[in-house]
Amino acid sequence: MNELKEVLMLATREAGKIIQAYFQGSFTIENKEGINNLVTEVDKRAEEKIIEIILRHFPSHSIISEETGEKLQDSPYQWIIDPIDGTVNFAHGIPICCVSIGLLHNNELVLGAVYNPMMNELFFAEKGQGATLNGVPISVSAKKDFRRACLVTGFPYKWPNTTEHPIKVFERFILEGLPVRRLGSAAIDLCWVACGRFDGFWEYNLSPWDVAAGYLIVQEAGGRVTNFAGNAFSVFDKETLATNGHIHDEMLRLILHKNGIEKTI
Ligand code: IPD
Ligand code: CA
Ligand code: CA
Repeated sequence: MNELKEVLMLATREAGKIIQAYFQGSFTIENKEGINNLVTEVDKRAEEKIIEIILRHFPSHSIISEETGEKLQDSPYQWIIDPIDGTVNFAHGIPICCVSIGLLHNNELVLGAVYNPMMNELFFAEKGQGATLNGVPISVSAKKDFRRACLVTGFPYKWPNTTEHPIKVFERFILEGLPVRRLGSAAIDLCWVACGRFDGFWEYNLSPWDVAAGYLIVQEAGGRVTNFAGNAFSVFDKETLATNGHIHDEMLRLILHKNGIEKTI
């Protein structure tokens, strides 16, 4: 595990250096599907660096990365890479974005790192070994009273109008009088649950690279992560709920709108 961890740290830090070097500087920006779903040349450079480092050390490992896609090989190891989570923030010079890299072994997350170079915050977790922020152990909040919780969420760019829009779920939390933030980086949202800044996070339609590392970090910090059926989470799930554990069921109830109206999502 040591070499895997060293390579994870090296790739994370090298990508972080690239992101920081370009932050608030000039770089090209393109649209993916939809005019606000962006990719910059920095996403591509950072991703190239991460993949180059991983494959230099572990040429047989599989890779799933946001910008270049999948390189699947016959290996029990699979690296899941988001070179910049929070690209829209990055493109606007907002310092809430990060590198996020998770490692699966036989489909189980074993390592995760999330690094925001602008805040110099490196979150890390190893399966069974707890979670850290800049090397210092972290844990989720101890808050039990849901009415006093501080929450965070995010929204997809596109949503089929056949099902209830996530804004309706957001509205239910706001109408309960709860503070709900929207930072624009799911990986950072998860890590900020892990270190107790937030008590809970939910979002629809995330991708494996948005959640892989952060999921392990929340779990190792003592939190709970499920899908909206309340079942054990998989990085391939499209519904993510991560909490300190204490407020999980109440969040789930509000997301599913169990107090009267049936689940419509
Ligand atoms: C996005 C961020 C954002 C979430 C979006 C993601 P990206 O990732 O995690 O918080 O709301 O759904 O796509 O595009 O910046 O890597
Ligand atoms: Ca992302
Ligand atoms: Ca990204």
